[in-house]
Amino acid sequence: MNRDPMPVVVLISGNGSNLQALIDGQLGGSLPIDIRAVISNRADAYGLERARRAGIGAEVLEYRGYETREAYDAALLARVRAHEPGLVVLAGFMRILSPAFVGALEGRLINIHPSLLPEFRGLHTHERALEAGVTEHGCSVHFVIPELDAGPVIVQARVPVYPDDTAETLAKRVQAQEHRIYPLAVRWIAEGRARMRDRELVFDGQPRATPPAITAEDALAAL
Ligand code: GAR
Repeated sequence: MNRDPMPVVVLISGNGSNLQALIDGQLGGSLPIDIRAVISNRADAYGLERARRAGIGAEVLEYRGYETREAYDAALLARVRAHEPGLVVLAGFMRILSPAFVGALEGRLINIHPSLLPEFRGLHTHERALEAGVTEHGCSVHFVIPELDAGPVIVQARVPVYPDDTAETLAKRVQAQEHRIYPLAVRWIAEGRARMRDRELVFDGQPRATPPAITAEDALAAL
């Protein structure tokens, strides 16, 4: 079945390597999406350069000048909506979003988080995984709900933790997996295979418990 590519807006704050994976998927033809805009809350985000290089509109909306989170988020929401996205992708967007912003986009807003949720919500996940002495770590793509890093997981990838790992070596191993599972999750949504209903994942028409045990390996095997 041929569908029109899904219009997407990507929000970033930094390097944009996950954005790059999505751009590569779109340009390479494996992702049926049309990234209409990339919006950063930081003018120095390298991801803006990645967007421009791909001919995608790159916008900056800094917090400076806004009095409250709600006022900033209302402006951000207006910018996002101007592009009429079917999906809004948080790709290293390092701001906590207000309930109003999340509520307006619920079901159409996804995030990638560098841990095996529900483990290690919040910041410094690799350092915390090392401190906790876990032998397995990873990353999760999830639908966003108002509670931080708590929405239904769409896909996770697991990596081993080695005794001589540093936060840097571990982050690198996890990020390599992020670049595999984020395009995969976006593709499932664009193809109508994954969606959120009653704050649960529905995959191929079937509700899946949260967090579902879909690993990147299962997912890639199913392609
Ligand atoms: C990614 O590792 C992502 O998991 C993390 O920020 C990084 C952005 O990298 N996101 C969070 O920590 C969200 N709480 P990128 O700019 O190279 O895609």
